[in-house]
Amino acid sequence: MRRPLVAGNWKMNGSRAGNEGLLAAVAAGAREIAGVDIAVCPPFVYLADVEAALAGSAVAWGGQNLCQETGVGAYTGEISGAMLRDFGCRYVIIGHSERRTLYGESDAQVARKFVAATAARLTPILCVGELLEEREAGTTEAVIARQLDAVLDAVDSLGQAVVAYEPVWAIGTGRTASPEQAQEVHGFIRRRVARKGADTAAALRILYGGSVKGSNAAELFAMADIDGGLIGGASLKAEEFLEICRAAQSA
Ligand code: 13P
Repeated sequence: MRRPLVAGNWKMNGSRAGNEGLLAAVAAGAREIAGVDIAVCPPFVYLADVEAALAGSAVAWGGQNLCQETGVGAYTGEISGAMLRDFGCRYVIIGHSERRTLYGESDAQVARKFVAATAARLTPILCVGELLEEREAGTTEAVIARQLDAVLDAVDSLGQAVVAYEPVWAIGTGRTASPEQAQEVHGFIRRRVARKGADTAAALRILYGGSVKGSNAAELFAMADIDGGLIGGASLKAEEFLEICRAAQSA
């Protein structure tokens, strides 16, 4: 039985004043939820505040990105995995579609980031997903396979990593993949990872992301290979986010 994970990706949202209430409400609500891992991934600049607000709570936190280089050095504007650990991060999102499409991150770069994350003892949340035109062209599985294989070829094992399937056409659009559409891809991801190790694949948590809300989370989480969610917009509202966490608890 895989323990579900619900992670909030705040993207470029928040303010020091606004985060305070959101974090306090999420931490308080999480106390009533058992059997679900809960995390938030704020912008880097808020990590110190988030650490102070969530230390000792049931809610973990993580980064939204990291530098592929390990160590320190002349990489202006970058944040290393060790720095994220220094602020108590457990997770880091890798290869989000916004990083891939807006900032040109390649599969190879994503693979290097994955390796850097595990070297820093962070749990990577590796995002994969197809564009609308790729789905319409019938190439969804080929795209997901390419994105996954870039990482699988770079590591001995996925270890404790988490994979998030986020169809790009469902992100921030209000258009969710149907539970059946999502399950089909989640099953494909698990079979692909199994080539590298059946045990790792069986234990792998595969999250769904893309317009998940309190009202649609339960039907998604009821699917056999959906082990939680990576939540964008709905993670900015404490009650909505907690409703999604509760849906994972009863799945
Ligand atoms: P939305 O939940 O806002 O669609 O965003 C999904 C996402 O990209 C999470 O990483």
